This record gives sequence, structure tokens and C-alpha cells, in this order.
Amino acid sequence: MNILVTGGAGFIGSHTLIELYKAGHTAVVLDNLSNSNPEALKRVAEIIGIREIPFYKVDIRDREGLGKVFAEHRFDACIHFAGLKAVGESVEKPWEYYENNIGGTLVLVDVMRKNGCKNIIFSSSATVYGDPEEIPITENCPKGQCTNPYGWTKSMLEQVLMDIQKADPEWNVVLLRYFNPVGAHPSGRIGENPNGIPNNLMPYITQVAVGKRKELGVFGNDYNTPDGTGVRDYIHVVDLANAHVCALQAIERNCGIGIYNVGTGNGYSVLDMVKAFIRVNGVDVPYSIKPRRAGDIATCYCNPAKAKAELGWEANYGIDDMVRDSWHWQSQNPDGYPEA
Ligand code: NAD
Ligand code: WQD
Repeated sequence: MNILVTGGAGFIGSHTLIELYKAGHTAVVLDNLSNSNPEALKRVAEIIGIREIPFYKVDIRDREGLGKVFAEHRFDACIHFAGLKAVGESVEKPWEYYENNIGGTLVLVDVMRKNGCKNIIFSSSATVYGDPEEIPITENCPKGQCTNPYGWTKSMLEQVLMDIQKADPEWNVVLLRYFNPVGAHPSGRIGENPNGIPNNLMPYITQVAVGKRKELGVFGNDYNTPDGTGVRDYIHVVDLANAHVCALQAIERNCGIGIYNVGTGNGYSVLDMVKAFIRVNGVDVPYSIKPRRAGDIATCYCNPAKAKAELGWEANYGIDDMVRDSWHWQSQNPDGYPEA
């Protein structure tokens, strides 16, 4: 299939491009580079062994720009990663998050349908479950109250896309609810490249390990969890990338609406991650216990059985692979990608 990958220069998008080409698909990337670097696409092409990945620096809110891309290519489906994703920033800038994520997706989907492309895989998030009613979380668990505007954009966009599919059954809509993506391509050539101080645990750990930050703050050790620190379902980004390839097969089977948790089903605590990182990589990660972070929940991990049964997808990488590949990327690229 020929796939439009919005946000394809970003962390998850760049890894997904590799798995798409490995599976025999081709891709065109559309990204406004607001949170990414074109160097990632150069490196993706190098890993795949092609001259370049077709790329358009276009914003998904730019109807005319999108129209030009669709005039030049015929797409079988869109994998839609483009969006703003910083939870804390979304609390400060709710308008910007709703406008970019929701406004942008509405324009994208309209241009898609006008050009006869009615297949979309959307990057949703475990955040739509809020404080989940059941652990492990199945897709039957009701959606909850999000604690920030970023989460609401995901929850609302799920509804928007499902309503569009209900009104026009020619659409196939796959909502992938990612848990906590970490790791990097085993080559160490591409990986997560956050701007400024990382919000997420794994990039913070790797930046401490490489000497860019003094110590990790562990946000709370008084949760009702085995060691008191927060428990999450960390998933290797290459496994996550492959879930999109499997989702394309569902689209080929005309799945209508498909909603899937994408996690390993294992819950690891903050200290489990830190200890695994130190053990596997042989580097120190100084840390100290800090107060709980507002909006955090104690435990979040999924039951990924539905994705296995219906998509034939399951995670293959374990915690040791995740911490090894995260460190491989960070240690080889201490400052991320070179400035373009
Ligand atoms: P990322 O920031 O690395 O990638 C997103 C890409 O979208 C960036 O390259 C950015 O430049 C681009 N972009 C943003 N707004 C755009 C716009 N208006 N037009 C065109 N391009 C735009 O993030 P990621 O970690 O790769 O996440 C990809 C998707 O997965 C996002 O939608 C994110 O919300 C979702 N998600 C991420 C996580 C996570 O923890 N990383 C978890 C769940 C869901
Ligand atoms: C993981 C654990 C923290 C940093 C977020 C978004 C979610 C999704 C994934 C997009 C928690 C602890 C963290 C640190 C710490 N993104 N921690 N010190 O909060 O589970 O999920 O990213 O959809 O929507 O909310 O991920 O990596 O921030 O935190 O102790 O410096 O690590 O308290 O227990 P989270 P995270």
C-alpha cells in the first residue's frame, strides 16, 4: 500500500516508516517539523536502503498544502501521527492544542475524503481511560475524565473519527491506544529527541545517564504499588511501529471501526525501569524521591489480547531491550539530531 504518514519525522512516525518499508509498503511523509528534525528522515532512508523518503513540509491545518500532496500521490491509507503531545504544555496552551490537534485532524480528514482516501490509523493514547476502572485495562473499560487538554484532544478525536465512519461506512478507522512508548531502533541511528527538559521518564533517565542532567526525580514513592512508585506499560517503539503494519491488514479486510490497546501487558514501576537501565547498561542513574506529580495515576497497564486476536500483533521486545536501545541511541547521539 502507499501510505500518507503525517508526523512521520517524529519519534514514533520515523520508526514506523522502517517497518512499513520492511513489510513492502511505500510512504510519503507530511510534517511541519514543529517537533522534529529532517535528519531523522535521512537516517530512516539510510536504514531502509533507499535514496530518500518522499517528504512535504506541510501543516495538517493547511488545506491547500494538503491538496497539493494529494494531487501528486494516490494514497491507500493515512497513518496520522501529527499532533502536539506535551501534557504540561497543553494545560498552559489549551487553545493551541485543540486548534492544532482537532482543527488539523478535521482538515486532514476532509481532504482525505474529497480525494477518495477513507482509511485512517489514528495515534490515540492510554490517557483516554483517565484513572482506569479496571487493571489490566481492556478496550471495554469505559473512557474516563482526562486530566489535561492533550488527553481530551485524543478522546474527542476518537469520537470524531468514529462518528465519521458511522455516517459513511466506506471509512475504515483504527484507533491505536498507545501505552508508554520507549526504546529506539536497534541501529542507534534514530530515537526520541525531546526539546528542552524531558517530561517523560525514559528520556529523563537517558539524559541523566549521559551527564546532561544531575539526577532523576522519582515522582512519589507512596502509591499503592509493589514498591510505591508509579507503574506503567512501557512498550518498545519498534513493537509499536509494527502494530501499525498489522493495523493496515485490518484496513485491507474492511474492519470498519477497530479500537486496540497497544502495550505489552506488563506493568513496571519507575524503580524497575531505573534498576533495569543500570543493570543492563552498566551506567549509573542517580535519583531522589520527589513529591507526586499532579495528574499522575498509580497504575496503568493493559490487556493486549484483542490486538493479538484481531490484528495478529503482539510485543516481542522486553524491558532489557527497551533500556538497552534507549541508551544506545542516547549515548551515540548525546545532543539528539544535529540542527538542520
Ligand atoms: P512527536 O512529537 O515526535 O511526533 C509528532 C510529529 O507531528 C512531529 O514531527 C511534529 O513536528 C508533527 N506535527 C505536529 N503538529 C503538526 C501539524 N499541525 N502539521 C504537521 N505536522 C505536525 O511525537 P510522537 O511521540 O512520535 O507521537 C506521535 C503521535 O502519537 C502523537 O499524535 C502523539 O500524541 C501520540 N502518542 C504519543 C505517545 C508518546 O508517549 N510518545 C503516547 C500516546 C500517543
Ligand atoms: C511515567 C512514570 C511518572 C518522569 C505520559 C502521558 C500519556 C502518554 C505517555 C501521550 C510516572 C514517573 C516521570 C520523571 C518520574 N503520552 N516519572 N520522573 O505520565 O505515564 O504518560 O506519556 O499520549 O498521555 O501522560 O508517562 O513517562 O511521563 O511517566 O518519576 O522525571 O514515571 O510519575 O509514574 P505517563 P511518563
